[in-house]
Amino acid sequence: MLPAGCGGTRKEERMSAVDIIVKKRDGLELTREEIEFFVRGITSGEIPDYQVSAWAMAVLLNGMSAQETTDLTLAMAHSGTVLDLSGVVPLAVDKHSTGGVGDKTTLVVEPIVAACGLPVGKMSGRGLGFSGGTLDKLESIPGFRTNLSREEFLDHLKRYGMVLTGQTGELAPADGKLYALRDVTGTVPSIPLIASSIMSKKIAAGAQAILLDVKVGLGAFMQTLDSASELARLMVAIGQRSGRQTIALLSDMNQPLGNAVGNALEVREAIDTLHGGGPEDFREHCLVAAAHMLMLGRKAGSLDEARAKAEEALVSGQAWGRFKQLVQAQGGDVRVVEEPDRLPEAPLKEIVPAPQSGYLAVINAREVGETSVQLGAGRVKKGDPIDPAVGIVVHRKVGDRVEQGQPLFTVHASSQEKLDAAVERLLAAHQFSAEPVEPLPLFYGVITEQDILQKE
Ligand code: URA
Repeated sequence: MLPAGCGGTRKEERMSAVDIIVKKRDGLELTREEIEFFVRGITSGEIPDYQVSAWAMAVLLNGMSAQETTDLTLAMAHSGTVLDLSGVVPLAVDKHSTGGVGDKTTLVVEPIVAACGLPVGKMSGRGLGFSGGTLDKLESIPGFRTNLSREEFLDHLKRYGMVLTGQTGELAPADGKLYALRDVTGTVPSIPLIASSIMSKKIAAGAQAILLDVKVGLGAFMQTLDSASELARLMVAIGQRSGRQTIALLSDMNQPLGNAVGNALEVREAIDTLHGGGPEDFREHCLVAAAHMLMLGRKAGSLDEARAKAEEALVSGQAWGRFKQLVQAQGGDVRVVEEPDRLPEAPLKEIVPAPQSGYLAVINAREVGETSVQLGAGRVKKGDPIDPAVGIVVHRKVGDRVEQGQPLFTVHASSQEKLDAAVERLLAAHQFSAEPVEPLPLFYGVITEQDILQKE
């Protein structure tokens, strides 16, 4: 079967979806032509959902080589518009986090990097399940538009050197269809499918340099350092094979990043950080990520110099100025970010004290994320409405000494019933030790193109 209107070659005329599924089921390597044929069939709808799902399961069970994964990525990237930013700005950099709890990094890093003169064109996603999404956070600022058109995306990038919006429907449509099926067929946790899904969107969005923030731990897709490293290496290799300069950070997601989890609460924490305050771990995470982006964009000769520039942009208030500019340019109410008390606020707040003394050994990020979803800050399925005001603020981090009765966390809720359920679940998510506990590292490593080349 040849998908209608796609002008296949003679070889493709002999291909069939079922043969490709069988080949993958038997653990064989697919050719580029077979992958392109299959992706065209997904995009046009000529390959039905049940065959796409069967194929995704075969990939999950039998894996894909680096070459197959690159071919899949490029085929999905080219299933829609591939933006070319080279005519708009000399070099644009993008950042992608694989998702986590309390990860509001983009809100701080993008203004820092833009303040250092490096254009950032970023398309972000929404939260799903325990993991939050930048678009939902931004939408707690009244009026902020996350649905810019392609023309607006390019225009804002050129005019302001900074744009932060949702993915347009024209970008990697094959990934949109495949992801929706993976979500309901148990085929999300496949490293080649995750890598190609993320990288197809990054390549289609057009930035020439990409920083990947691959999360590892209880509150991440990747729970072990080995699986996170494998995903990171694969994505860096795909970036390299596709002519995009790419590096990956491996960062901790066992406990929430920073203190706030929940949309308006996270915007407030990002604003505090842009004013020079904010939680120490979050500030440090942002400065390291920004420094790597500046290195990718050749704005500094060394990582130390890049970090110093990022810090200067933060301390001088330039990054804050750029954040306000971003809010204004995309229709958001600047008064709300200037006076964060105007952000949506939950009717009920409860500060919960530590039930015992000791050293904090665990704050289970996944449990914190799931609790924030129960409070209404996230969605269980695509399209669910969310409450921007609700969420959690943790007051202590792993390794801290805590005395019984000291504030442990605050819950922001819309009803007493939800608040009570959240308190119970969050208390169980905290574990104490009588012995001192080492703080968790922020980062476990960096994977560069050189690392990949050395391995090849
Ligand atoms: N994020 C994506 O964009 N795709 C995946 O498959 C997983 C996380």
